[in-house]
Amino acid sequence: MDVNVEHSDAVLVTNTPSETEHLGELLGAHLRGGDVLCLSGTLGAGKTCLVRGLARGWGAIEHPTSPTFTLINEYRHSKGSQRFYHVDCYRLSGAADAWTTGLEELFDPANVVTIEWPERILEILPAEHLWVDIRDLGDTSRELTLAASGHRALDLLRSIWQG
Ligand SMILES: Nc1ncnc2c1ncn2[C@@H]1O[C@H](COP(=O)(O)OP(=O)(O)O)[C@@H](O)[C@H]1O
Ligand SMILES: [Mg+2]
Repeated sequence: MDVNVEHSDAVLVTNTPSETEHLGELLGAHLRGGDVLCLSGTLGAGKTCLVRGLARGWGAIEHPTSPTFTLINEYRHSKGSQRFYHVDCYRLSGAADAWTTGLEELFDPANVVTIEWPERILEILPAEHLWVDIRDLGDTSRELTLAASGHRALDLLRSIWQG
């Protein structure tokens, strides 16, 4: 995995789905309530793959699947009452939709929230978040650009290479 860090951004390349999942697991181990992760990229980029790792690293009991048809999936922690949410906004037409579905209520200090297609709900996103954009480089290579907004997101970003 190549890593290149500059200021509040980092660019990483993974070469297999399991590398992407592993990266998610590393990052997931540092997640805590209130954290928001935005995951952008085309269909098949690897957003759900990354979320599987994030949920495992965080300590989810269940194994995440694609929520494309359900909008929100909720996972419980193996110890404690925190929740991990996996939201897929693919089918939302915009913030009005998000408001009617009560999405913004998920942004709570008790919850970790991961969001696919976050660009559809920009108006309700908390200002502090870690944004991961995944680009398909062909075959099984993916470029992940991580951009931190806020101090907490920056700590999360740094946690990747601090182990
Ligand atoms: N390096 C990689 N990282 C993540 N997924 C990869 C990678 N290489 C190939 N893939 C494949 O790309 C697809 C990603 O699917 P998925 O995670 O559901 O994408 P998305 O949620 O972005 O639509 C899977 O079929 C996975 O096996
Ligand atoms: Mg997906």
